Amino acid sequence: MRIGIPRESRPGETLVAATAKTASQLAALGYDVVVEAGAGAAADQPDAAFAEAGVVVGSADEVWSSDVVVKVNAPTEAEIARLRRGATVISLMAPARSPELVEQLAAAGVTGLAMDAVPRISRAQSMDVLSSMANVAGYRAVIEAAHEFGRLFTGQVTAAGKVPPARVFVVGAGVAGLAAIGAAGSLGAVVRAFDVRPEVAEQVESMGAQFVTVEMEQEVSSDGYAKEMTAEQEAATAAMYDEEARAADIVITTALIPGRPAPQLISAETVAAMRPGSVVVDMAAANGGNVAATVKDEKVVTANGVTVLGWTDLAGRLAAQTSQLYGTNVVNLLKLLTPEKDGVLRLDMDDVVQRGITVTRDGATMWPPPPVQVSAAPAAPAAAVVEKEPPTPPDPRRRLYAAGLAAVLFLALATAAPPSFLPSLTVFVLAVVIGFYVIGNVHHALHTPLMSVTNAISGIIVVGAILQAPIDNLAVQVIAGVAILLASINVFGGFLVTRRMLNMFQKG
Ligand SMILES: NC(=O)c1ccc[n+]([C@@H]2O[C@H](COP(=O)([O-])OP(=O)(O)OC[C@H]3O[C@@H](n4cnc5c(N)ncnc54)[C@H](O)[C@@H]3O)[C@@H](O)[C@H]2O)c1
Repeated sequence: MRIGIPRESRPGETLVAATAKTASQLAALGYDVVVEAGAGAAADQPDAAFAEAGVVVGSADEVWSSDVVVKVNAPTEAEIARLRRGATVISLMAPARSPELVEQLAAAGVTGLAMDAVPRISRAQSMDVLSSMANVAGYRAVIEAAHEFGRLFTGQVTAAGKVPPARVFVVGAGVAGLAAIGAAGSLGAVVRAFDVRPEVAEQVESMGAQFVTVEMEQEVSSDGYAKEMTAEQEAATAAMYDEEARAADIVITTALIPGRPAPQLISAETVAAMRPGSVVVDMAAANGGNVAATVKDEKVVTANGVTVLGWTDLAGRLAAQTSQLYGTNVVNLLKLLTPEKDGVLRLDMDDVVQRGITVTRDGATMWPPPPVQVSAAPAAPAAAVVEKEPPTPPDPRRRLYAAGLAAVLFLALATAAPPSFLPSLTVFVLAVVIGFYVIGNVHHALHTPLMSVTNAISGIIVVGAILQAPIDNLAVQVIAGVAILLASINVFGGFLVTRRMLNMFQKG
């Protein structure tokens, strides 16, 4: 099959769906790849780079008559008309907000695969273009804000006086929000963030930012995306937004609920009360904006000197990087769609990822797909809650008896054993006590890495026992044999468990 990479027709678009590197990776899957002349020019991918990578640079007609057309933006009506019946088109499509596009694709008898409909599940992360683009855009939002902001981000104590750090408030801690938190924090700002999904608080804090909390009912997300807020939640958060925005130098808003217009969170009054010189970057500008003062694709300076940026092309401002990431997401998707690596695209409707992105199939409308639950989903409530007795705490006297017994045994052994054996026995007893407390306090989630360490210790035991085994004493030989057996079980058991865990990450 032939894959065509066209030049994007959207005015001002800098991105391209394949770079020289990813186009040759597509070719390695058995496809013939043709890239339209000039398609990658704005993303530092000149035609010569494609030609050098062995990729054919051709005309628009050659590209649009391909079996599979891969692009960044959704095809226009005119572009759909150029597709062959039975062809496949892969691009961003926002199918939930574009019913007319879905109809046009179906009417043209083509298969439409939406790159922006990849479900947010671990297995599909390598194909998630929204995350790739939001990640770059979140970083770029901070750079844009820093460019507009007339001061340093980092706090400094200089001979000329003390410079306080900039205070950044990030709304929405999804992919873009977390990238913005990381970038602002690494520039030295004090970062605070809020999200309606309580489960992201840990991620925010792990990036060095402070998670702002509001007294309200919050629901754990079942699909990695937020749900619309209730009236009570909105009222509870409005005062917090006002307070945080007034105290901030930079506000970056990324709040989004998929398939809906962006929620308006920062009012005109709040912006009017912010300090002159403050900067707001409204990343949700394309969907209506989170900030009242936002004008899509424009820079607005309010009467009180606050700059509000409504750029919708933040990812495109780092075109080479974003194109590379987009192209890699496409390669990963095509690897899934080309299991035989024979250049033949096969769609499997039983696969949740492939079903999730299929908007139309050979002219039949397939949108919307069945919902997908992600691992962040809260566990279903039990049908009937059985009152359980609280576990009885262990009797403290039992520990005391055990410790007493161990002490008596130690003393008995110490008296009976030759004096040269005493230091080794003391080290052994101390190792048992310390090991018991150290390993007993290791979190369950860390038991597997711990096993690699115990594997190493078991290795030492095996070597020690092998050295002792030739000694002409039956007791020593028996102990050495038991030590070799137990330590070997630990070593080989560890390998088996590791192998089983690695298998869990293998595809297919
Ligand atoms: N301007 C650009 O160039 C550009 C580029 C890429 C993405 N974006 C936009 O950035 C935004 C974020 O994208 P993303 O991939 O990070 O999405 P995401 O779904 O990963 O994150 C959005 C976050 O907003 C939170 N949220 C939703 N409603 C909220 C509310 N009322 N208050 C607080 N938080 C709320 C969600 O819980 C979620 O964590 C989107 O609007 C996207 O369109 C813009």
